Amino acid sequence: MKDLKLRSPKIFPYFQHYLASIIWNAKSIFSFNEALRQRLKGKTVLITGASSGIGELASYRLAEAGAKVLMVARSAEKLNAMAADIIAKGGKAHAYPGDLSDLEDCDRICREALADHGQIDILINNAGRSIRRSVKFSLDRFHDYQRTMQINYFAAIRMAMNILPGMLARNEGHIINVSTLGVQTCPARFSAYLGSKWALEGWSWVTANELAHTNINVSTINYPLVSTPMIAPSKVYKYMPWKLSPKTAVRWMLDIVITRNKRKVDAVGVMGLFLYYLLPKTAENFINFTYQIIHETPPESYQATKTEAARQTTQVQNNVKQGATVNAD
Ligand SMILES: NC(=O)c1ccc[n+]([C@@H]2O[C@H](COP(=O)([O-])OP(=O)(O)OC[C@H]3O[C@@H](n4cnc5c(N)ncnc54)[C@H](OP(=O)(O)O)[C@@H]3O)[C@@H](O)[C@H]2O)c1
Repeated sequence: MKDLKLRSPKIFPYFQHYLASIIWNAKSIFSFNEALRQRLKGKTVLITGASSGIGELASYRLAEAGAKVLMVARSAEKLNAMAADIIAKGGKAHAYPGDLSDLEDCDRICREALADHGQIDILINNAGRSIRRSVKFSLDRFHDYQRTMQINYFAAIRMAMNILPGMLARNEGHIINVSTLGVQTCPARFSAYLGSKWALEGWSWVTANELAHTNINVSTINYPLVSTPMIAPSKVYKYMPWKLSPKTAVRWMLDIVITRNKRKVDAVGVMGLFLYYLLPKTAENFINFTYQIIHETPPESYQATKTEAARQTTQVQNNVKQGATVNAD
């Protein structure tokens, strides 16, 4: 066994972390705003997807609570206006416009932010893209899978890989990855989106396991539906009664900033997990039943592909018939 170079790790840090977790969880219940201010005092937070929805409101709340906020998204004008507004209100904010689907842009943003501010204490990977489409209508749309992976997974871990070295050197930091309740409930039509969020969660959980003895935490937020521009294109969500307001979604995020808990998920998510583990076939049938109730219009590209495929099939059939006739002659 000598060649394995085994070591005997200290177990004391685990107990320190349990104690800290109990204290910060209690603080978040009994004095939320004060706990948030304590956590964010002198801290620099980089948040992606800051120009809209959850990220926009969170940027304001983080700055109000005392953090220096570095905001990332493609909409430069919007980010600059937000930064000016936050500064006018007495906060600290900076805009870092860029396209996270381009990995070199992820590197550039991190390089510039680190050069300007020295360190990033909290990274919130919040930028995201959702696609709602059945697998049967995605067969000619492989790019749907590539686009969701690019922003929801590769961009998030590329940002973390740029920022983690500083956290490791200081033995201090927090990475918050924004995911979805869909990971626990697996609703139909989200194969591309959920594949990328599952990948992000896989990375988060393994990284958290590796860093559990340090003061670097990795947290995941499994949001249910939130009323933001992301869900506006899907008519069906207008009628869903159980949506979070952006304000509540931001409260969840700030709660994670305070507690540094591993996961934030609601009771539906926990039930989903149990159902899939205990009665997987029943869970599948239930989701399939709801899937069949709701009509889905195929994308235009699908219609075109289908028509072309039908035309080619007819042509092949005709050729076969003609061939058969010729042979008969
Ligand atoms: N809304 C929901 O129901 C819901 C539910 C579960 C989880 N979530 C998750 O919550 C997070 C925030 O979503 P939201 O609802 O607030 O969505 P949103 O309002 O559509 O905001 C998405 C943000 O991501 C940014 N973004 C998208 N593509 C980008 C790119 N290539 N480069 C840089 N930034 C990019 C957008 O900014 P630009 O367009 O300016 O680039 C925008 O700021 C996402 O990770 C989402 O998956 C949302």
